[in-house]
Amino acid sequence: MATIAFLLNGVPQRCDVSPDTSILTLLREHLGQTGTKEGCASGDCGACTVAIDDLAGDIHAFASANACITPAHQLQNKHMVTVEGLAKSGNLHPAQQAMIECHGSQCGFCTPGIVMSLFTLHSDLAQRPAPLTSERLEATLGGNLCRCTGYRPIRDAALRMSDIPYERPQWFDATLPESERQPALTTPADASSFFAQPQSLEELTQLRQSAPQARLVAGGTDLWLESTQRLAPLDQLIDVSQVTELLAIEKYTSAHQSGWWVGSAVTYTQLEPFFEKHFPSFAHLLHRLGSQQIRNRGTLGGNIANASPIGDTPPVLLALGAQIELASVNGERCLALEDFFLDYKKTALAANEVVSRIFIPQLAEGSQLRVWKLSKRREDDISAVLGAFSYRIEHDRLLNVRIAFGGMAATPKRALAVEAALEGIPIGQAIFRAAQQALDEDFQPMSDVRGSQHYRQQAAKNLLERLYLSLSAPDQEVMLNAYAH
Ligand code: FES
Ligand code: FES
Repeated sequence: MATIAFLLNGVPQRCDVSPDTSILTLLREHLGQTGTKEGCASGDCGACTVAIDDLAGDIHAFASANACITPAHQLQNKHMVTVEGLAKSGNLHPAQQAMIECHGSQCGFCTPGIVMSLFTLHSDLAQRPAPLTSERLEATLGGNLCRCTGYRPIRDAALRMSDIPYERPQWFDATLPESERQPALTTPADASSFFAQPQSLEELTQLRQSAPQARLVAGGTDLWLESTQRLAPLDQLIDVSQVTELLAIEKYTSAHQSGWWVGSAVTYTQLEPFFEKHFPSFAHLLHRLGSQQIRNRGTLGGNIANASPIGDTPPVLLALGAQIELASVNGERCLALEDFFLDYKKTALAANEVVSRIFIPQLAEGSQLRVWKLSKRREDDISAVLGAFSYRIEHDRLLNVRIAFGGMAATPKRALAVEAALEGIPIGQAIFRAAQQALDEDFQPMSDVRGSQHYRQQAAKNLLERLYLSLSAPDQEVMLNAYAH
């Protein structure tokens, strides 16, 4: 157990939590705040959405999060707003009022989460006015599922709420008094149940050395499912989310290469503007990687270290030629990302190491990156197959071809035979037919609930066909409105 201090709807709280306590458990079982609901307990439905401000800047950045898979200890010295806190002296928050006026209110499970997502949008728009685009609206609500009825009245409410007069309640600007703040958590690393929140890479590697059996947690978007879905104990945790060196995106240039070092605890939401600028198709993928709630919490390092064959970012990073830095008390070592993935969920990470940074090379002049994800549902779904293609074209030939797929092998993997079939050859239907055949040399995918072996093989070949069609008519995007964005 450790004591955490945080603000709940503007009111200072001190609570004792164990390493495996989620925010949802803290709210409902420790604090008796039952407005936040449990639907799926796996970060999919959004019923448990809360808003968290890290109290770090001048702007109150209330970010939505799934309380069911967010560790409670990560509330330390932060401000959490729940649906109980929104109304002030009997006056509803504009998000609530608009939901009523537009007939958007639905059942008691989904509505609190929808309201909280609207609250984060409202508070951001109030502080940083900007036109409300349909993309932003969809991003806000994409992680809130209702399986019973329609979203039109909810969209209407989102559009209406900014017109409703609103006086900020006092809690909006509340801060946690210095006297209430708690130092970063540390309990003895040899205890059977402990957690630690190192602040520097040196502290982190020392902890890793002394407790290699402990689980590392950043956003928790995948790890926490072990607790909620498999009821596995998460009683020894090292939280990497506050390690300064893991939170930066830094430009790097040398005589040989230039690119960016991205800290492994950088979240998808933080990556979005960076990718928009330098890798637009990677940014586009992030919109389909998970809901806003997930993107606010999930990290690039977590997606890689998890080593899932259907993780969304590794194939793209493989196509870009990314490298990975692993740190321990002995220093850092750097590997090509393709050498990091050894087998199903097996990586080159030693027991005393952590993933510290990822190097993403800048695309060479004239190079392009295409990324296409296939999944059963367009949003909030796991890939069946994901293809990433990087290349440049010179004199009608494909050069520097790097192609990687997810969902096709036990690990995210480059398609070396396909690359060889395409490299340096004039673009034409025949070479793409050869590349499609070469795909059979590279992959023998498995069948599972997301797709049969045949489907996966054919789908990957179809992505090669799509690449060919895109190259044949470069001004036209193929299947723009289809699921395979
Ligand atoms: Fe469904 Fe948390 S309960 S996302
Ligand atoms: Fe609440 Fe459908 S889940 S009305």
